[in-house]
Amino acid sequence: MNLLDGKLVSEKIKEQIALDAAEFTTQTGRKPHLVAILVGNDGGSETYVASKMRNCQLVGFESTNIRYDENITEDELIAKVKEINQDESIDGLIVQLPLPKHIDPDKVTEAIDYRKDVDGFHPINLGRMQRNLPCFIPATPYGIMLMLEYYKIDTAGKHAVVVGRSNIVGSPMSILLARNANPGNCTVTLTHSRTKDLKAEVLRGDIVVAAIGKKNFVTADMVKDGAVVIDVGINRETSTATKSGFKLYGDVDFENVAPKASWITPVPGGVGLMTIVGLLKNTLEAAKGTIY
Ligand code: GUN
Repeated sequence: MNLLDGKLVSEKIKEQIALDAAEFTTQTGRKPHLVAILVGNDGGSETYVASKMRNCQLVGFESTNIRYDENITEDELIAKVKEINQDESIDGLIVQLPLPKHIDPDKVTEAIDYRKDVDGFHPINLGRMQRNLPCFIPATPYGIMLMLEYYKIDTAGKHAVVVGRSNIVGSPMSILLARNANPGNCTVTLTHSRTKDLKAEVLRGDIVVAAIGKKNFVTADMVKDGAVVIDVGINRETSTATKSGFKLYGDVDFENVAPKASWITPVPGGVGLMTIVGLLKNTLEAAKGTIY
């Protein structure tokens, strides 16, 4: 078993992003600027946004976190999005999900100017991704592709099984793995809650991407010997044993799956760190105007 080390890869790529950001700042007299809107007090979202802001500072970006009470109306939120769309000092905008129930995430996502949509969630970016055109790629799938690229994992002709069809991870991941690109060129099976014999499907995977959001969901009996296993899960449980008061669990039963895998990502220290890298790369591209 070999570890796909998100800490190592993310640090290396962030070094390069910091160099590129410094060059951008020298040339333009300003830093790449990311704005993150956070609505409400979801514990996970607070942690993720804080990490995104911290990492922006680490690589020399400007970052702004706009916070709203969970009672903000959909119209108020969309008005703020439109104001940011017009603000030339801001390169990238993300609205952290999930949003409170009374706000339609699709409406908010579509209100974001696709040229500032560094989450890659806008239908224009998704459509362009499917067509293999320059676009912002959703941060988590982007980070996973960068990890596969870094370790030169041979994906062409392989059978990839994605578990979970979310808009944020599973669905875009299935598109990227199937694209005529490197990494890519996989034969992809996208599985979900209505898949009939999930174990049989996952057992076919040379590459397995677990993105269901359930602790230790993928067990050793579901994974083929020698598979590449990518664990997207960040399942938080309260724990008195850690300083933060939380312990993180992946969607994969790491202890028992790792001995069967050729490559595997740990949790923490795997995909989560690469998600940040995907977001930073998109923000840099937005600032440089290389995509749009
Ligand atoms: N919630 C979970 N992952 C993400 C992400 O990548 N972007 C946003 N905006 N919200 C999320």
